[in-house]
Amino acid sequence: MKKILITGGAGFIGSHVVRHFVNKYPDYQIFNLDALTYAGNLENIKDIESKSNYTFVKGDIVDEVFINELFVTHNFDGVLHLAAESHVDRSIEDPLAFVKTNVIGTMNLLNAAKNQWKANFGGKRFYHISTDEVYGSLGAEGLFTETTPYDPNSPYSASKASSDHFVRAYGETYGLPYVLTNCSNNYGSYHFPEKLIPLFINNIINNKPLPVYGDGNYTRDWLFVEDHAIAIDLVFHQGKNHETYNIGGFNEWKNIDLVRLLCKIMDQKLEREPGTSQNLITYVKDRPGHDLRYAIDASKINKELGWKPSVTFEQGLEKTINWYLNNGEWLQNVTSGSYKEYYEKQYS
Ligand code: NAD
Ligand code: DAU
Repeated sequence: MKKILITGGAGFIGSHVVRHFVNKYPDYQIFNLDALTYAGNLENIKDIESKSNYTFVKGDIVDEVFINELFVTHNFDGVLHLAAESHVDRSIEDPLAFVKTNVIGTMNLLNAAKNQWKANFGGKRFYHISTDEVYGSLGAEGLFTETTPYDPNSPYSASKASSDHFVRAYGETYGLPYVLTNCSNNYGSYHFPEKLIPLFINNIINNKPLPVYGDGNYTRDWLFVEDHAIAIDLVFHQGKNHETYNIGGFNEWKNIDLVRLLCKIMDQKLEREPGTSQNLITYVKDRPGHDLRYAIDASKINKELGWKPSVTFEQGLEKTINWYLNNGEWLQNVTSGSYKEYYEKQYS
């Protein structure tokens, strides 16, 4: 049986990756390591917590001694590293927290993996999950490819870029077998409602203002999170060592257009007068250093591994909105903070 460590599996993308791996690979023992920060929520994965091939470990990747001991105890065959501080606005308030988790935490995992595996790297793999934000901002034209130079603008993207560089350096210097992916904006279920799509869905439900930063003419490339989990599975199993793959939705939206679309669909679903939710749009002060446009060229992963998104944006958004409307309790637990009690009930 292979032992696989997934970090950050109680978060948004991590919970989808853990669920995908636990269900699809009964012969793998999946260890989900998560510190349960504000973004970690065990309710995100309660459907798989009693599976025999799943183990939850509460712990902080910044704790070097703990991470070393964890690797010595379990001798993992592979690592999928998703744990991170992930929100750009928070990184502007507290950059050091991002350096600790995203840079030092990644270093601790790299060191532990290298030391544990160095006698024989055969069959081992360190998979670092990163973001398209490391490439900085595009103008009106062009796409990010795997060879686009790094040019991060926010403390979040600078910390992710730094961790990407260390992963590459460990590959070059010590021969650590790694793969790395840079993905665009994800959306879907279990997304913490501080990020644009779940925040705005929640605010529309509760008739609260929709704070659009600046003039709203910023572009993001949106990918359904379950398609990201499928891409991660493919890269983990079939990607080439020491290679980077870009993952994206070929699905660019200006924020203001996306917000208007959300408003329209939500009015229909909530049986409100057309235009009701649009009245909640409020233009607010811009995010400092706000990147104008992200857009991914995902042709490498498409050509080499045969991946492409399985759902259209219309289908993905429909599923996503329905999920939030049908899971009001999840939203309520997250916004009230009571989701933190779940760990105490289940694991203490
Ligand atoms: P998230 O904030 O929803 O979840 C992060 C998880 O990591 C949480 O469960 C949290 O408790 C855990 N964590 C944080 N600090 C930790 C620490 N010190 N030790 C152990 N666990 C810790 O994040 P997400 O949006 O799911 O992103 C997951 C990964 O994917 C991140 O590495 C992020 O950079 C990357 N990514 C995200 C997106 C996106 O659109 N959300 C896109 C591309 C890449
Ligand atoms: O591109 C991948 C990245 O996508 C990931 O690496 C990050 O972890 C993830 O958080 C996301 O970053 P963004 O900053 O693009 O996502 P966010 O949802 O915070 O914002 C999306 C866009 O919407 C961005 O242009 C800022 C804008 N925005 C966001 C919020 C929360 C608003 O206009 N108002 C808001 O209230």
